[in-house]
Amino acid sequence: MESFELVELQNGVVSLRCLEPRETFHPGIGPAEEARILHVEQQQLVERALLSRDFVIWDVGLGAAANAIAALNALQIGLPEDHPHPVVLQSFDKTTSPLEFALENAASLGYIVGFEDLIRELVAKGEVRIGKRIIWRLHLGDFSTDIEALELRAPDAIFYDPYSAKGNPEMWSLDNFSKLFAKLDPDRLCLLTNYTASTYIRVTLMMAGFSVGYGVQVHKKLHTTIASNCPEALLRPLDNEWLVDRVRISHSSAPLREIPYEIAPISDADYARLSLHPQLSSQFPNQL
Ligand SMILES: C[S@@+](CC[C@H](N)C(=O)[O-])C[C@H]1O[C@@H](n2cnc3c(N)ncnc32)[C@H](O)[C@@H]1O
Repeated sequence: MESFELVELQNGVVSLRCLEPRETFHPGIGPAEEARILHVEQQQLVERALLSRDFVIWDVGLGAAANAIAALNALQIGLPEDHPHPVVLQSFDKTTSPLEFALENAASLGYIVGFEDLIRELVAKGEVRIGKRIIWRLHLGDFSTDIEALELRAPDAIFYDPYSAKGNPEMWSLDNFSKLFAKLDPDRLCLLTNYTASTYIRVTLMMAGFSVGYGVQVHKKLHTTIASNCPEALLRPLDNEWLVDRVRISHSSAPLREIPYEIAPISDADYARLSLHPQLSSQFPNQL
């Protein structure tokens, strides 16, 4: 059973920290703000849900539900009461212990206040309906081993938040991202947002098939990461400058294939493969 403690961030906001792996949830500006900026606003969640007949969100790493609650808050405000097509929020986690800790400390964490009964029902029944507009489901299990067998509607949005690659490499491997990419519907735009700015994670995502861009700034972190099955959807795609200035010279740009990950520069063979990724090669088509 994982243990947690409350932590006060520099800005005074309270978050929680897992003791093993030792990681603070939403460490920059705190749970509610980070979730709103990184996932909800960057993904234009409400605008896209309004235009869709069956919008699906995968919340990978439900944790203490900050990302999920940020989405619920935005959808409850942004979708009209009689919105005819319910949004489905699929939350995944292998444990409910951060959620239980958050419920015990709801007053200190703040963002979860008002959602306690809903969360208790979600944990007890695995599904909860929020009016006519939203269905929230919980899938308990190891996402990295369950993913292949998942028979769910392909997601339009993925909040990817399963701790960092350092503490939890299985969720960041080429194999895992390839399986995730295979679950997307090529005819439906999907955006995946995450806090990382690591070169080797971006390389791994691209080698798994994703197109990858610079994600929004979150507080002092200038870049995060946004990935998609649709390169045109990326406002700031990683480009050949990134390939040459970052991937080529970085000491940790090899994709995460093996666990444990051995920090290493990218091999010549992988570099050549990556250079052929459509989002990079299309920038200089004449050179190929
Ligand atoms: C940093 S926390 C997520 C924070 C959360 N998104 C929030 O808004 O509060 C990471 C979560 O990912 C979950 N997780 C890590 N590896 C997982 C896996 N292989 N399958 C399912 N859940 C996983 C952990 O149990 C933990 O609850």
